[in-house]
Amino acid sequence: MIRPILRHGADALHQPARRVVDFDDGLQTLIDDMIQTMHAAPGVGLAAPQVGVGLRVFVADPSAGRSIGDLVTVVNPRVVEQEGAQREEEGCLSLPGFTARVTRPARLIVQGYDREGTEITIEGETLLARVLQHELDHLDGKLFVDRMQGLRREQIVRRVRKLQRAGKW
Ligand code: NI
Repeated sequence: MIRPILRHGADALHQPARRVVDFDDGLQTLIDDMIQTMHAAPGVGLAAPQVGVGLRVFVADPSAGRSIGDLVTVVNPRVVEQEGAQREEEGCLSLPGFTARVTRPARLIVQGYDREGTEITIEGETLLARVLQHELDHLDGKLFVDRMQGLRREQIVRRVRKLQRAGKW
């Protein structure tokens, strides 16, 4: 089932998510829905808080549905290694219509669990490294604008508030 994606300003997006304890049916349904919602958007990543669930789970697919082998699901992720830097344009399904250049690690290694609770390690470079850190940020209540500084950030936040006031957000 496709779930509605929350937008910047919704409480669930701005607070840290809780660790998953039970790999139960509810979690399996949540993950299925998140994959479907991400692909339908379409997007390359989606974190549980974006659908209003405060759990540390994200899905990512840098191929945006074109290659099934690229789909990853990570529960209770943590960064174990990061290296270098890249600065590219990025967006977020919770900030539709906005993009900005954000500095991210060039390479990132994340450990966590798959949907069955088996420990996994994911190594990402370039786009996958960017997506992994972007989704990890969501679990800590951070959106890409929170990684930005200065005028561009102010500009985006001001425009979002204006859209909210106008009831168009
Ligand atoms: Ni996002």
